[in-house]
Amino acid sequence: IERTFIAIKPDGVQRGLISEIISRFERKGYKLVAIKILTPTKEFAMLHYDDLKERPFFNGLCDFLSSGPVVAMVWEGQGVVKYGRKLIGATSPHNSEPGTIRGDLAISVGRNIIHGSDGPETAKNEINLWFKPEELVDYGLDSEKWLYEP
Ligand code: GTP
Ligand code: MG
Repeated sequence: IERTFIAIKPDGVQRGLISEIISRFERKGYKLVAIKILTPTKEFAMLHYDDLKERPFFNGLCDFLSSGPVVAMVWEGQGVVKYGRKLIGATSPHNSEPGTIRGDLAISVGRNIIHGSDGPETAKNEINLWFKPEELVDYGLDSEKWLYEP
């Protein structure tokens, strides 16, 4: 089963976009298997964005991610890592297509409302960083038989 880590950043929460973002993943057919709201510490934000620690915007990015509540989620489904990134759109909303979450709902690269894992390995690492195994719920959805061929 394929899973990805998705987070609604503090700007998405403050702008009242939690339901809009969840709705887009849910309507696509993906299954929500973990969710919580928390304000990460700066140290935790730095762990999450560790691969960007050499970038000039790293400090500001980690300050921002830890500035308020974040909605952390795990979504499951066929192709969810790659297609989840398509739903989200390009990193800078200036380049995100209309129809994508960032294209429709954001303007600045530093306030792009949502995070999604960029590959299967990253997804595993981020899920392990944000969630304990027992926080992931294993369940079937009746809609799965209408979403997938046998
Ligand atoms: P995430 O899903 O948040 O990881 O975004 P991404 O994978 O599309 O981009 P990346 O991992 O390269 O960067 C992480 C975050 O850093 C982005 O979502 C932006 O909020 C921020 N960021 C990336 N590039 C820039 C930049 O050039 N300037 C600023 N201010 N922020 C940036
Ligand atoms: Mg990234």
